[in-house]
Amino acid sequence: MSTTNQTHEAATLPSKNTPLKLTTRQTPTPGPNELLIEVHALALNPVDHHQRDTGFFIQEYPAILGSDVAGVIISSGPLTRATMKPGTRVTALASSFFNAGADYGAFQRRVLVPEETVAILPDGYSFVEGAVFPLAAATTWNGWVWAGLKPTATTAQVQVSASAEGVFVWGASSSIGALAVQEAKLMGFAVDEDVLGQIVRAAGVDGVRIRIGYHATGDQQLAADVLHALRGEGQGEKSKLAIAPILDPGLKVPDGVEAAFVYPPLDRVELKERSRAIFVDWLEGKLAGRQVVASPRIKVIKGGLGSVNEALDELKAGVSCLKIVVEL
Ligand SMILES: NC(=O)c1ccc[n+]([C@@H]2O[C@H](COP(=O)([O-])OP(=O)(O)OC[C@H]3O[C@@H](n4cnc5c(N)ncnc54)[C@H](OP(=O)(O)O)[C@@H]3O)[C@@H](O)[C@H]2O)c1
Repeated sequence: MSTTNQTHEAATLPSKNTPLKLTTRQTPTPGPNELLIEVHALALNPVDHHQRDTGFFIQEYPAILGSDVAGVIISSGPLTRATMKPGTRVTALASSFFNAGADYGAFQRRVLVPEETVAILPDGYSFVEGAVFPLAAATTWNGWVWAGLKPTATTAQVQVSASAEGVFVWGASSSIGALAVQEAKLMGFAVDEDVLGQIVRAAGVDGVRIRIGYHATGDQQLAADVLHALRGEGQGEKSKLAIAPILDPGLKVPDGVEAAFVYPPLDRVELKERSRAIFVDWLEGKLAGRQVVASPRIKVIKGGLGSVNEALDELKAGVSCLKIVVEL
């Protein structure tokens, strides 16, 4: 709903399986616990072209897709967060996926976001860099939390006294995997860049126990089998493999391993709490301390909202170690 006469530009999806089209929309007024953001950069994700082409999870057309923005706060409704003032640089999960309607999708010049999915972006990060974090942070942490870890975890909390604990990240060439590696390191886990052989050797030689895996991309069966191998003869709780992509229907989960698709809490209250833990407690602090870097390598598209459709085609054709960000 708009109570102003202002308008803004948007890359709109008119109907299923059509190209995004530049349109002008009424600028909405933020309600309670909402912020209106002037978007300076937006990052693309695989789900965006999937939604564009298949209509996945779209309630009504015209629709505005996209999840990742960085920009500046323009205005807000009543908030619980005193630091969220007009003019503040922020990065935010702006998803029409979880919030009803086109006012909440990222691919537009002004977007509404709930205050709990926003983190202050310090001056040391450009808007382009800031835009890569939101969906990756939410997706990685939704998986880690399912596996028993917390965004507020410290080394002391995740490492068990005598025996070293480990986790593995499968597919660090993806955006999700690249951030998952940074998070694992910040939680106190050692990072070893070699793959399977080294993991198994390290587990055997150094007594590292690996009971948690995060699968971002690649062969799900291999990842599950590796987690099974790393389990050894151990008893007790099952090893857990969080899988970000759609589950491979042929996946045979080995004994002693539990595998699950990564998803956010379905309950609204729980979702707000989880978002707060990820964006306010974790991401904002790590950005303030410059403890996370934008990853993987960024390709900046400077053509504005009119270039989003073509940029989505480029993402769909396949990227490796690359995040596509459109600068507005
Ligand atoms: N569950 C959730 O809530 C959630 C949220 C966000 C994303 N996801 C899913 O998580 C996965 C990773 O997302 P992301 O944003 O990190 O992906 P990404 O960075 O765009 O790409 C992931 C990797 O997939 C491979 N790849 C890319 N395009 C390909 C193509 N056309 N054909 C074959 N391989 C291709 C590349 O691996 P190589 O370098 O090995 O070639 C690339 O590094 C995706 O499946 C995404 O849909 C899930």
